[in-house]
Amino acid sequence: MRLRLALTLLLLCGSAAHAQVVASDATVRSPDGKMTVTMRVSGEGRPEYSIQRNGRNVIDWSRLGFILADGPKLERNFELVQDDGKAIDETWEQPWGERRFVRNRCTEQRVTIREKTGQRRAITVVFRVFDDGVGFRYEFPEQASLAQVGIVEELTEFAVAEPATAWWIPGGEWNRYEYLYNRTPLTEVGQAHTPITLRTASGLHIAIHEAALVDYAGMWLRRVSGQRLKAVLSPSSSGPKVSRKAPFATPWRTLQIADTAAGLYMSDLILNLNEPNKLGDVSWVKPFKYVGIWWEMHLGTKTWSSGPKHGATTAETRRYIDFAAANGFRGVLVEGWNKGWDGDWFAKGDEFSFTEAYPDFDIVALAAYAKKKGVRLVGHHETAGNIAVYERQLGAALDLYAKLGIDAVKTGYVADAGGVQALGDDGRIHFEWHDGQLQSRHHLRVVEEAAKRHIAVNAHEPIKDTGLRRTYPNWVAREGARGMEYNAWGDPPNSPEHEVNLVFTRMLAGPMDYTPGVLSLTGAGGKRIQSTVARQLALYVVLYSPIQMAADLPENYAKYPKPFQFIKDVPVDWSDTRVLNGEVGDYATIARKDRHSNDWYLGAITDEQPRTLQVSLGFLDDGRKYYATIYRDGRNAGFEGDGQSLEIETRPVSRYDTLQLKLAPGGGQAIRISTKPASRGPHSSPKPAPKKPQPEFDVE
Ligand code: NOJ
Repeated sequence: MRLRLALTLLLLCGSAAHAQVVASDATVRSPDGKMTVTMRVSGEGRPEYSIQRNGRNVIDWSRLGFILADGPKLERNFELVQDDGKAIDETWEQPWGERRFVRNRCTEQRVTIREKTGQRRAITVVFRVFDDGVGFRYEFPEQASLAQVGIVEELTEFAVAEPATAWWIPGGEWNRYEYLYNRTPLTEVGQAHTPITLRTASGLHIAIHEAALVDYAGMWLRRVSGQRLKAVLSPSSSGPKVSRKAPFATPWRTLQIADTAAGLYMSDLILNLNEPNKLGDVSWVKPFKYVGIWWEMHLGTKTWSSGPKHGATTAETRRYIDFAAANGFRGVLVEGWNKGWDGDWFAKGDEFSFTEAYPDFDIVALAAYAKKKGVRLVGHHETAGNIAVYERQLGAALDLYAKLGIDAVKTGYVADAGGVQALGDDGRIHFEWHDGQLQSRHHLRVVEEAAKRHIAVNAHEPIKDTGLRRTYPNWVAREGARGMEYNAWGDPPNSPEHEVNLVFTRMLAGPMDYTPGVLSLTGAGGKRIQSTVARQLALYVVLYSPIQMAADLPENYAKYPKPFQFIKDVPVDWSDTRVLNGEVGDYATIARKDRHSNDWYLGAITDEQPRTLQVSLGFLDDGRKYYATIYRDGRNAGFEGDGQSLEIETRPVSRYDTLQLKLAPGGGQAIRISTKPASRGPHSSPKPAPKKPQPEFDVE
């Protein structure tokens, strides 16, 4: 029997350790000492790790390793040969985001393992242990026996120690990430996308995801037995799911771990595991609100294609530009402006031109008209997943936008999962996955080419968000979940629970272009949206994105001027964010501080249950006077009741106040907490503060 040398390295904040051929296991602790990760090579030399929090197992022994294309599996016969650790504590500034400053405080441990016999291949597993979770990744160093690496499968496991409830969407199914969330026992998960969110029997919250997905395949999770999940990499048409030259590192496998759902959301672990900004001065990346020629196509009253119902006409776009200018929106998105939408574009996407407009859309004149009015067109590149066609035109397409002063583009990859068409080295079209290695490369290529021209990117049908906005701050948002469009034509449409589910699942990954603000609450054919008006407003605060659409039609906003005022007022860039309460899938209240003033905004949403939530305003500054403009569900409001029933109240508040938020079934509440008494819109100066502010009560 092999003598097991049980030397354990305990790293405390500020200390570091280094050892050669050290031991059979290595342990590393979080800065607060509560989280512990242990890595070992087991009896057969299998690398494994486990996670403990407050002395209790969170993740039981779980395997690490790979199946490779051109060599034996990398999964056993290892010994631990080197073990280095260091403490990291730094604070960095976001150019835009949910908060301005982010603290990156963790303990890093690099554990190198080498095969004892045979090719003696080595890999390093790097752990970063935070107070609120763990990230780890594999590094493949340069070595003669493993120069070209073809990864057939990654063997990483996550053996959840306790029984748990899971919130998850299926991974590897045709509709990419666009599913309603399942809420099941963990033992009923099949194959899931990440982030997957778990609440264990003892109330611990865990979200498993990944960070810095660069030149690698996205990770799905398959339940292999009991509560044990295993990585499954998104496929590639070229055989191995990942092909890389060493040296390289995989994305980080991440576990956010907290006592509460709010704790998961407040974690910056994913961003901290990404590389710092690579683009230098990004002051040209502007958070903004936008309107657009969009909802009418989803309602079916206009078309993307040319013809009598064509939406993207010069006249219609001028109308939107005028509306945007009058109401303080920076952007006007125009979909269906370019040639290629006629016929069955969804099936192939090979007709798309990204430089030629339909004849009834004068892009040059419109870009100039918009600029004159202080507005920018927002570009649109729908590819139908045909990246062969798109990549061929990418440079010219972005050059055109740059020339016209269009500084943001919405890209789109409408194709069933596995249906991305890419040009192979053999000159033929290959079918790829939206989250495969090739698509991870494609998105970064678009983002980098756009950055060269000072253009921001908002990708729909994207690869999942893994925090790359830190490295590429022009990657401002993406879709990657069921958005508002499902309320136009979805069957079923988004349920009240869906948006609440998003908060503690999809939104952990990063900003989402959900496109809220449909105050008419009406989808295609007059279908009722399962929401209230107050909730539509709350979504601007609850579902974070630095670009937010006001998705409804201008004529509908004209009908609802009072709630529309909140959409005009709400900022999109924040210096601070607090989750005031929340339970996964049930409700959430988030408060955010405007990056450019002392104002705060609060949003609360609930599932189909009515609720009264108490929130303390203790986050407000001491000694400062504020005025809260409250948009709450009115009498009989509800997703099945009167969605338009809304009460608007303005009252003075201070940090010593506690508010009772009454939320109707499927409803919400939005509050502007301003140092100024009342908003008169972006184009008029606020009235001077009255000596003694009078509460105003207003029922629509
Ligand atoms: C799907 C996108 O999510 C939607 O916003 C867009 O309008 C259509 N594709 C067409 O590009």
